[in-house]
Amino acid sequence: MSLIVLDHLEKSYGTIPALRDLSLQVPEGCLYGLLGPNGAGKTTTLRILATLLAPDLGDVRIAGLDGLKDQREIRRLIGYVAQEVAIDKILTGRELLALQGDLYHLRPKQRNQRIDELIEMLGMDPWIDRRCGTYSGGMRRRLDLAAGLLHRPQLLILDEPTVGLDIESRAVIWNVLRDLRDQGTTVLLSTHYLEEVEALADRMAIIDAGTVIAEGTPNDLKKRLGGDRVTLRVREFSNEQEAETICDLLEPLDGVQNIVINRSQGHSLNLVVDGEQVLPRLRLCLEEAGLPVFALAQSRPSLDDVYLQATGRTLMDAELAIAGQRDPKQERKQAMR
Ligand SMILES: Nc1ncnc2c1ncn2[C@@H]1O[C@H](COP(=O)(O)OP(=O)(O)OP(=O)(O)O)[C@@H](O)[C@H]1O
Ligand SMILES: [Mg+2]
Repeated sequence: MSLIVLDHLEKSYGTIPALRDLSLQVPEGCLYGLLGPNGAGKTTTLRILATLLAPDLGDVRIAGLDGLKDQREIRRLIGYVAQEVAIDKILTGRELLALQGDLYHLRPKQRNQRIDELIEMLGMDPWIDRRCGTYSGGMRRRLDLAAGLLHRPQLLILDEPTVGLDIESRAVIWNVLRDLRDQGTTVLLSTHYLEEVEALADRMAIIDAGTVIAEGTPNDLKKRLGGDRVTLRVREFSNEQEAETICDLLEPLDGVQNIVINRSQGHSLNLVVDGEQVLPRLRLCLEEAGLPVFALAQSRPSLDDVYLQATGRTLMDAELAIAGQRDPKQERKQAMR
């Protein structure tokens, strides 16, 4: 059963579109990852789920409740850990959690027991009685997570919970999220780290320019790409025109399933190929055309390939593109050639 159903969501901030026809279903009891570059619409989606923001159009359902009408009930069901939290600097971590517990109307005894449990679960004992103003990024993220878990939510929503953290803090958070899922909590997190969804998520969606471009288990998504990946560079290959020419040359070859121009790394080509014999054929075809191969690498598909095949950009390239205000939709059309 789906705990979350988002149906054709649209959201703009003034004239800036954030979500365009975004639909998504998150099954109950799963650890679900939303992967996407900066500006893809992850925070907007999560804020709508947390009832902090209303969509312009579309339906939001959580555990059968209406996201627009049943906000009080929904807030009881969910814990929300925001991307950026302004933590009070004067209070200690323990005092801050106690304050949060009061906001959730926990009784003092219950509240203190729960705080002790969370301190243990998240390894916060050595510093929880220090003022929050002295915390590192990892300590703050753990405290945020504890605050989101105080009332034992059925659904935990986390916006980039491990961004910028050291390996140890990240491992603590990953383990806590896995344990929560194993105990029946549905966990939805956003990230732009590929390895985070690979390591954690039972299912995932890739969001790009406000819409879902791929959905499934991380393995499904990789399998859907079919064969192996080949990255190809040719010596004379320096501009769009040459890239197009080489695409036209290679496309008819046996075993070549799909070609995408990767513009992020000085115009390399990313090919999906099937079968062992494709590499020598590619090499021969290019040499006969007077285009000696500069570099040719074959690999199993990664999630970055899933993204690249859908959009023509790597995740990192997408972030640069959004920073420079290129139009991702236009680029996707080109990528789907
Ligand atoms: N308060 C706002 N006012 C105007 N535009 C906004 C606002 N919040 C988000 N946007 C725009 O909406 C789009 C989606 O933003 P959103 O914050 O949902 O992306 P994101 O996937 O969370 O990105 P990031 O990985 O950087 O956190 C972006 O183009 C962003 O510039
Ligand atoms: Mg965000």
